[in-house]
Amino acid sequence: MDTQALERAKQDLVAQFGAWTNHNMRLGEGLYTVAAHPTPSEPKLRRMTQIVLDWCGGDLAGKRVLDLACLEGMYGLELALHGAEVVGIEGREANLAKARFVRDAYGLGDRVEFLCEDVRNLSRSRHGGFDVVLCLGIFYHLDAPEVFHFMDAIGEVCDRLAVVDTHVSFTAEVCHRHGDLDLWGRNYREHDPDTPPEERLKILWASLDNLNSFWLTRPALYNLMGAAGFSSVYECHSPFVAKFEEMRRAKINDRSTFIGLKGQPVQLRSSDLSHGQAAIPWPDGPA
Ligand SMILES: C[S@@+](CC[C@H](N)C(=O)[O-])C[C@H]1O[C@@H](n2cnc3c(N)ncnc32)[C@H](O)[C@@H]1O
Repeated sequence: MDTQALERAKQDLVAQFGAWTNHNMRLGEGLYTVAAHPTPSEPKLRRMTQIVLDWCGGDLAGKRVLDLACLEGMYGLELALHGAEVVGIEGREANLAKARFVRDAYGLGDRVEFLCEDVRNLSRSRHGGFDVVLCLGIFYHLDAPEVFHFMDAIGEVCDRLAVVDTHVSFTAEVCHRHGDLDLWGRNYREHDPDTPPEERLKILWASLDNLNSFWLTRPALYNLMGAAGFSSVYECHSPFVAKFEEMRRAKINDRSTFIGLKGQPVQLRSSDLSHGQAAIPWPDGPA
């Protein structure tokens, strides 16, 4: 399709589903999904793409990538342009229609699949295994205990690398028991209880139906990721995302990008004193 035809097709799509809300992607000469100048989605895309390429040795050919709650599909589509096979899961058709539009404009229909599903139904038997799992901007939209089962499912489907971009709670106010773990955090209001379910669906970035979500503290997130099978957990500081740093410094929200690697728990060879011992959990609780 030439750029003018894409522009018309884009206008038709916007008339039906509304404008793109975040993911700015180039469709043709001077034609972008959001705007023909840098928008806030770009620094995040650079960070996430850099993380995945760095940890995958710069080559995504043959790698399976899962993009959870993919919104308008930008992260998965970018990685597909680097050679990956991608599955995107998203709960809202209005977002998926835009993701599929760009996929088709890029001619990536044979390597990118977008599914309209609830991420809380993620499982290996249903979706298979993935070299890379992107969990960007969704973890903090789920309530307890579903958010804990969701991390377990990420651990189940992930064969190597998980990128978890999320808000974490500054305060330990509420504790939930999950398996052997005490997980601290705080409740966050997603929707007003008076908002009918059909209106909740129209809020394109929010939880699908749950009125509240549960934001874990940093130690709770580390402990949960460890229990889900991530043998080491990291935090990305660079590439820099100014918006996250501004929020953290202003103590509005603590948002960061965490990386989980799936490996085998190490068995030390120079000492047997810790053999058979479980990993030491991060201490947590009210200050
Ligand atoms: C803040 S946006 C983040 C989107 C994207 N991953 C990003 O980082 O730009 C949250 C997304 O999660 C989706 N979502 C929320 N709850 C979901 C659920 N239970 N299952 C599937 N998608 C969900 C929303 O529709 C929205 O697209």
